[in-house]
Amino acid sequence: MPRKILVTSALPYANGSIHLGHLVEYIQTDIWVRFQKMRGNTCHYVCADDTHGTPIMLRAEKEGVTPEQLIARVWLEHFDDFRAFHVAFDNYGSTNSGETRDFAEGIYRTLKASDLIAVRSIEQYYDPLKHMFLPDRFIKGECPKCGAKDQYGDNCEVCGAAYAPTDLKHPYSAVSGAVPELRQSNHHFFRLSSPTCQQFLREWTRSGSLQPEASNKMQEWLGAEGENKLTDWDISRDAPYFGFEIPDAPGKYFYVWLDAPVGYMGSFKQLCKNRGIAFDDYWKQGSDAELYHFIGKDILYFHALFWPAMLQHAGFRTPTKLFAHGFLTVNGEKMSKSRGTFITASSYIEHVKNTEYLRYYYAAKLNGSMEDLDLNLDDFVARVNSDLIGKYINIASRSAGFISKRFEGKLADHALLAKCASTSGLAGKLVEDFPNKNLLEVLQDSAEQIAEMYEARDYSRATRTVGTLLDLINAYVDATKPWELAKDPSNVQWLQGVCSVALQAFRIITIYLKPVLPQLAKDIQAFLNVGELHWQDALTLLPDGHAINAYQHLMTRLDPKCIEAMVEANKQSLQLAPPPTSQQRHAEHQQHVVAPAAEIGDATLPLKKASMIAPIAETISIDEFNKVDLRVARILMAEHVEGAEKLLKLTLDIGEAQPRTVFAGIKSVYDPEKLKGRMTVMVANLAPRKMKFGLSEGMVLAASGEAPGLFILSPDAGAQPGMRIK
Ligand code: MSP
Ligand code: ZN
Repeated sequence: MPRKILVTSALPYANGSIHLGHLVEYIQTDIWVRFQKMRGNTCHYVCADDTHGTPIMLRAEKEGVTPEQLIARVWLEHFDDFRAFHVAFDNYGSTNSGETRDFAEGIYRTLKASDLIAVRSIEQYYDPLKHMFLPDRFIKGECPKCGAKDQYGDNCEVCGAAYAPTDLKHPYSAVSGAVPELRQSNHHFFRLSSPTCQQFLREWTRSGSLQPEASNKMQEWLGAEGENKLTDWDISRDAPYFGFEIPDAPGKYFYVWLDAPVGYMGSFKQLCKNRGIAFDDYWKQGSDAELYHFIGKDILYFHALFWPAMLQHAGFRTPTKLFAHGFLTVNGEKMSKSRGTFITASSYIEHVKNTEYLRYYYAAKLNGSMEDLDLNLDDFVARVNSDLIGKYINIASRSAGFISKRFEGKLADHALLAKCASTSGLAGKLVEDFPNKNLLEVLQDSAEQIAEMYEARDYSRATRTVGTLLDLINAYVDATKPWELAKDPSNVQWLQGVCSVALQAFRIITIYLKPVLPQLAKDIQAFLNVGELHWQDALTLLPDGHAINAYQHLMTRLDPKCIEAMVEANKQSLQLAPPPTSQQRHAEHQQHVVAPAAEIGDATLPLKKASMIAPIAETISIDEFNKVDLRVARILMAEHVEGAEKLLKLTLDIGEAQPRTVFAGIKSVYDPEKLKGRMTVMVANLAPRKMKFGLSEGMVLAASGEAPGLFILSPDAGAQPGMRIK
């Protein structure tokens, strides 16, 4: 009986690009899902963008777009990145969907009806300039323990102390810089401290749904029996907030982490609608389907406590298992922007191009535990070239030519294969373990063992086992020497037999690696002239007289220069270049131009730069500078001007009773639609100038240089129209 399985990966936030750290998770999950599908199980894989919350709201504001516009753009970027890495979701949705809203409201109402929602007033920092309550991460100040400046409201990055934002000395709003005030507001809480929740979580976290390391962590958080360590969970936030408004609570929104996991259900619901799947089969209490969440260890708390408690008390089934993994380090250290090791998915695609190299490397390292995983860039190149090209692809490239040229592509029949496939004369443990088996039988006998390793997410053991099989196949080819056999016409049968054994072996290995290397497997299927390969196919051979297609190049070696260029590019992306649009990225895929590694040493860089800028103007006094009244302005309107080639007409709010009109020569570089709502900077006391098209009441500032382009300025988030710049 095929199993019914629903699998999720954590939903990436919609305010950042996918990077190689994220991909540890999505690649790990995708391998598992592909494996399940190859085994003939019914397996659905869903994910979505996590779109709500304060950071996304503020980022949209800063970019001068609506949150909906921001999340739509990021969704496309994420979607493209995942596709390029062959992460094959059955549905990729968004938490900002009708389906997710319906489930979130439904769950909330049920919890409320079960008396598991409490409303209490809490005191919290409020930004009087921005008119909003501040999340801990948006309050900064001096660490109460060590006095370090500019520390976040929840913990100190210098001494590691954890504290409440109210403990900070000299707090200020990271949004506007204002001194925050304490204000009261009603919040909605999920009563996790209730006996029913405590009791349930105590049982659930011990029920085998968690890895042992995770289960131990949870016992710590829950405390000893009778010790009530869990506190109620604050699930509401005050307006302004980008999210779902709480039913019957105007101005109150669900905290992003309330609706984020509900997004798993929302995305699956969309899939159900598209494919006619019965949602309840997977989510109702007592369902016989399996539900697995792949997550990073940093979000275990949400998935092992809040989420199962919500599901349980809202009448849904709970997850079968949580699969938590560790964090990615690069060259043994945390990913770092200045070292260029904070590598985005799109820069990998641009520079390395072949995404299956990384899938293979991660597979070779993942073992189903919560340990961190290191991407060592030198080792990466070495492994890809020695394992994938040297051991695997070479089997086909060394034997296919003879079959095509000498035998019209036809493989030897099974009787001949049996004669040729003997392992006698080959050394190694496998040969000793299976003394009476021929090479192909040895490979086939490993199918179940390798399957168990995939099932247990121990891909490193699976790839290592495949590695020993590959060594055996290569030893076989080395011993039988087809290139020698080819020299003597009396050996023609042996030549066909030996090369056919190698290609049959190559096909079996391709099945074992297909969850990891799906695109390569597809190309090999075409080369071998076979249909979609499933796991069971490893137990049969290609039939007598089967003809393969001519060998075409399957994979190129990884050039370390690509890696250098990628690291360099990620260092440079620290500068403000916007991420490429998905269209630009596609264009790059096709051409695959490897950017040269920067040749200028760090020391010469400033000099080079200096010679490129125009001479600095004459020195002025501060008083002279102060004569210029610079103000923050909001662009209320931006319009084309009839008959003007270069000008846009801007209507600017600088906090005065009447907005100003300014004509700016930026038509060639800015689409007026994109400027609307944006903040910028203007000279407010410039003498008005009468122009052909009307009166211009000031000037908008923009940067330009010798290179083409014109760039208007924007203040940091939080600046208000009319603020003076000095
Ligand atoms: N939006 C939340 C998840 C909500 S799930 C209902 C979130 N988003 S995230 O974008 O920060 O991370 C998405 C996933 O990627 C998480 O499981 C996270 O642990 C994982 N990773 C993010 N950075 C990572 C590394 N550097 N290494 C390994 N995994 C990492 O959390
Ligand atoms: Zn400190």
